[in-house]
Amino acid sequence: MKIQLEDILKNGVAEIESADDLKTLDDLRIKYLGKSGALTTILRGMKDVAPEQRREIGSLANSVRENIENALSQKLADLENAKLLADMEKEKVDITEPSKGVKRGALHPLTRFNNKFMEICVEMGFTVIQGPEVETDYYNFEALNVPKNHPARDMQDSFYITDNILMRTQTSNMQIRAMEKMKPPFKVVCPGRVYRNDSDSSHSPIFNQFEALVVDENIGLKDLMMMIKEILKRLYGENIKIRVRPSYFPFTEPSIEIDATCQMCHGKGCNLCKGTGFSEFFAAGVVNPKVLEMSGIDSKKYSGFAFGPGIDRSVMVTNKIPNIKYLFKNDLRFLKQMR
Ligand code: DAH
Repeated sequence: MKIQLEDILKNGVAEIESADDLKTLDDLRIKYLGKSGALTTILRGMKDVAPEQRREIGSLANSVRENIENALSQKLADLENAKLLADMEKEKVDITEPSKGVKRGALHPLTRFNNKFMEICVEMGFTVIQGPEVETDYYNFEALNVPKNHPARDMQDSFYITDNILMRTQTSNMQIRAMEKMKPPFKVVCPGRVYRNDSDSSHSPIFNQFEALVVDENIGLKDLMMMIKEILKRLYGENIKIRVRPSYFPFTEPSIEIDATCQMCHGKGCNLCKGTGFSEFFAAGVVNPKVLEMSGIDSKKYSGFAFGPGIDRSVMVTNKIPNIKYLFKNDLRFLKQMR
């Protein structure tokens, strides 16, 4: 038994030392120390050893086990270390290699304009609200004083989903939703996507508007004009000039269109502004008292004004974008130019 133990020690340690991968090492652990391993079998046979030899054999067996265990853990550490070194070698980074350059992202021009406009409105005390793009006929038309068969519906070629539900054609739907929920006085602005069946180089079936609505006591056209002038100055600078044309919208009375210095030629006259130096910016007006009443606001006590600029055209002009489709195509070549 002594000889057997000495053989186990000699062979075991030698085999362990020559193991060159973790799997072989584990197999050796099982071979010697496992449940039916060589050493375990011997230890199990201790009961058959003559009592006077038991002490000696027992202590030899323990020392063999210790030696095998030590050899195994030493080898395990060596193999793991070697693997780590090999992995590090594989993953080595050459820090002297020239960099590939950092790819910088940028905000979409619509987002940039949107942020700027929102910032100005928030500075002026507006609350930003958002609402549904899939809308009922009531909020998109009826409550804005555009009943069924009203000729004003022809101004907006709509995408209907059912007889009563459509993709909103204007953010003016949010005027009604705000008036139903909020107690005057209030100022709200709603940025959002709108949809019309219209498509050419300056019209897209999807485009973007803002809707601003102010409801308070004793406010009217003069306040509307002052506010629009201030917003345009903050957007385009102190020198911006504006002019006003009468217009018609069923939900405002009076209704106006506001033109401002053309941002393509800065007032000199160009193709875009047909030589006038002005281009169209806002549609606006004093809220029709009928609309206030329909949304539960006392029109004897309160009045309101609203304006609804489209933003795509302004973004196209300031960034010299020839076709509105570029704003929606997600073409990386275009987006890179807009940085
Ligand atoms: N919603 C109208 C449109 O898309 C524009 C508009 C007109 C908005 C008058 C307003 C307004 O807030 O007061 O054609």
